Amino acid sequence: MAFTIAIDGPAAAGKGTISKALAEHFGFAHLDTGLLYRAVGRRTLDGTPAHDAALALTAQDLEAGDLRTPEVAQAASKVAVIPEVRAALLDFQRAFARRDGGAVLDGRDIGTVICPEAEAKLFVIASAEVRAKRRFEELRSAGIETEYDAVLRDVHDRDARDMGRADSPLRPAEDAEELDTSELDIGEAVARAVAMVSKKIV
Ligand code: DC
Repeated sequence: MAFTIAIDGPAAAGKGTISKALAEHFGFAHLDTGLLYRAVGRRTLDGTPAHDAALALTAQDLEAGDLRTPEVAQAASKVAVIPEVRAALLDFQRAFARRDGGAVLDGRDIGTVICPEAEAKLFVIASAEVRAKRRFEELRSAGIETEYDAVLRDVHDRDARDMGRADSPLRPAEDAEELDTSELDIGEAVARAVAMVSKKIV
């Protein structure tokens, strides 16, 4: 039986942590769709055209060690504007969403484009300042040198590009429930998400 949980929202709002916890709680598979765009973006930094990189994406590309850097995040947001790139990644995501046994997908367009029929949809948000602070601390603890102001600029830049693009912009699906994590710690955010999804599983 397919049951899809769609988690959308801007960069560093807590989607990843919440999605992993939901997958574990319900025993579902999890796909971080941002990784697909990051893997394509990373290949473009080596000079590969974005569309070619998207068509030739392999599991190995998704395991590259440096997909979490700010440089790759920006490259991902740029290739994500290109309709051919989005189209090349569509079937894989749709098949994953409807696999037997349940799936959690997190990204920007899961509830609106990839799986509009998803049984549960959350739109996870937090203020830009809170998101930048979290991302800054994550990067620092991963040993990546950066400054808070640069991370905040990066968050604003990606928000503008992800929300402003013509193809599959970041926006809540009409039937998505909003979860604002600005004032919540991880445990509280996860507990709310579990409660919101549990209502849909009857
Ligand atoms: O979730 P993330 O920060 O890893 O995503 C990196 C970029 O990929 C993001 O800025 C926009 C793009 N993306 C997208 O356009 N659609 C998705 N479903 C997931 C990510």
